[in-house]
Amino acid sequence: MVPEVVIRRALDEDAGELLTVQRAAFVAEAQRYGDPFLPPLREDLDAVRAAIADQVVLVALRGSRVVGSVRVRVEGATGHVGRLAVAPDQQRRGLGTELLRAAEDAAPQSVSEFRLFTGGGSAENVARYERAGYTRTAESADDRGVPLVHLAKTLRRRAPAHRP
Ligand SMILES: CC(C)(COP(=O)(O)OP(=O)(O)OC[C@H]1O[C@@H](n2cnc3c(N)ncnc32)[C@H](O)[C@@H]1OP(=O)(O)O)[C@@H](O)C(=O)NCCC(=O)NCCS
Repeated sequence: MVPEVVIRRALDEDAGELLTVQRAAFVAEAQRYGDPFLPPLREDLDAVRAAIADQVVLVALRGSRVVGSVRVRVEGATGHVGRLAVAPDQQRRGLGTELLRAAEDAAPQSVSEFRLFTGGGSAENVARYERAGYTRTAESADDRGVPLVHLAKTLRRRAPAHRP
């Protein structure tokens, strides 16, 4: 029987497998842009371990196998979502959507807006974020000329229950 997927906070010992999944997932983006040096592919193990220590990093596990990841870097009231990745053989089953939702839920209550960016040529990524409630805010290019679309989503966090 195929085990269910469990999403939880990443631990230091998840770093190696997380990096492997991230690299496998982002190869498709590298091929799309003809650039093998996209930031998620340049990142090394120490950088992933630092992210796990400093940011909200989630992993999706199917049994003992890491099959996806996402992270949120909190800066004031803004949560910067990044590195959303699902292992190639596990894609198109709703896991990416689930990880994005879990990342938003795991961010501290002080976060009132999420920001993220994706490759401007990745129409399906942009469409997925728009379906998840994000709207386009800007376009730019990274330091190697890859076009980027920036998106943001303002949260309406539920107000704390009023006690008379
Ligand atoms: C982007 C990424 C994380 C999406 O992960 P995913 O698990 O495939 O995402 P989902 O399954 O939630 O959605 C993907 C598609 O599967 C469809 N889908 C969702 N659940 C499904 C199901 N149960 N059965 C069939 N299809 C399903 C969705 O409708 C969606 O289709 P669409 O893109 O044509 O609209 C993954 O493709 C990836 O790792 N890509 C490389 C890295 C990357 O680009 N990251 C984002 C950069 S910002």
